Amino acid sequence: MKLCVALDMSSKQQCLQLAEGLADFSDKIWLKVGLRAYLRDGAGFIEELKKLGDFKIFLDLKLYDIPNTMADAAEEIAKLGVDMINVHASSGKRAMATVMERLNKLASRPLVLAVSALTSFDETEFSAVYDQNLSDAVRKFSVMSYEAGLDGMVCSAFESRLIKDATSANFITLCPGVRPFGESAVDQKRVADLDVARKAGADFIVVGRPIYQAQNPREICERILGQI
Ligand code: C5P
Repeated sequence: MKLCVALDMSSKQQCLQLAEGLADFSDKIWLKVGLRAYLRDGAGFIEELKKLGDFKIFLDLKLYDIPNTMADAAEEIAKLGVDMINVHASSGKRAMATVMERLNKLASRPLVLAVSALTSFDETEFSAVYDQNLSDAVRKFSVMSYEAGLDGMVCSAFESRLIKDATSANFITLCPGVRPFGESAVDQKRVADLDVARKAGADFIVVGRPIYQAQNPREICERILGQI
C-alpha cells in the first residue's frame, strides 16, 4: 500500500513547503495535485514538484466529457509527464476506451484510473444522483473501466475488495477518504482508517487534510509510512 499526499492547500508556497519537507521520503510517497493547485499554479507547478525529489505525481482532474474531448485532454495531460491521471467512470465505456486508445499510441503513458463513487457520497446521496445502490454501481463501473483498458479505480476502502473480485487482483484501487488515526471526516462520508484500507487490499491511500492541517505534517507521514 502506497501513500499519496493531497496538495490541496491555499497557496502554492504552502504546497511546495510541504513537498520540500517530505523530499527525503520522495521515493516512497506520491503527491496528488488536484483542481485547486492545478488551476492556480498550472503545469509549472508539476515541474517544480519534480525538481524537489523522486516523487511520483497523480494529477487528479477527474475528466468527464464527450469521448473525443476527453481523449484530447488526456493526451495533453500525458505530455506533462505525470505518473497517474483519472477520469469519471460515469463518462462511459466508449469515452474511457477512446482515452486509452489515444494514450496507448504514446511512447509512454500515465496510469489511468476511473472515479467510481466520490468518497463524499453516502448511500442516500449516491442514489439521489445515480438511482442505484452504491456497491452495485461501483461493481458495474469497475467492470466497464476494466474492459475499457484502464489501470484501476478511485474508490473508498469499503469498495476496494469488491472491485478486485469483480475485475482482477492487479486492477489498482486508490482510496481517498482515509483518516489514518481517527481524524475528523469533514465533508467525506465513506472514511476508513489504515487498517481497513490495508485489509481491503487498497493499493494507494490518499490523505489530504489529516496531513496538511496537522501541526507537524512530516511526523504524520512518518507514522503512516511506519504502519504501511
Ligand atoms: O483532505 P482529504 O484527505 O479528505 O482529501 C482527499 C482528496 O482526495 C481530495 O483532494 C479530494 O479531491 C480527493 N478525492 C476524494 N474522493 C474521490 C476522489 C478524489 O476525496 N472519490
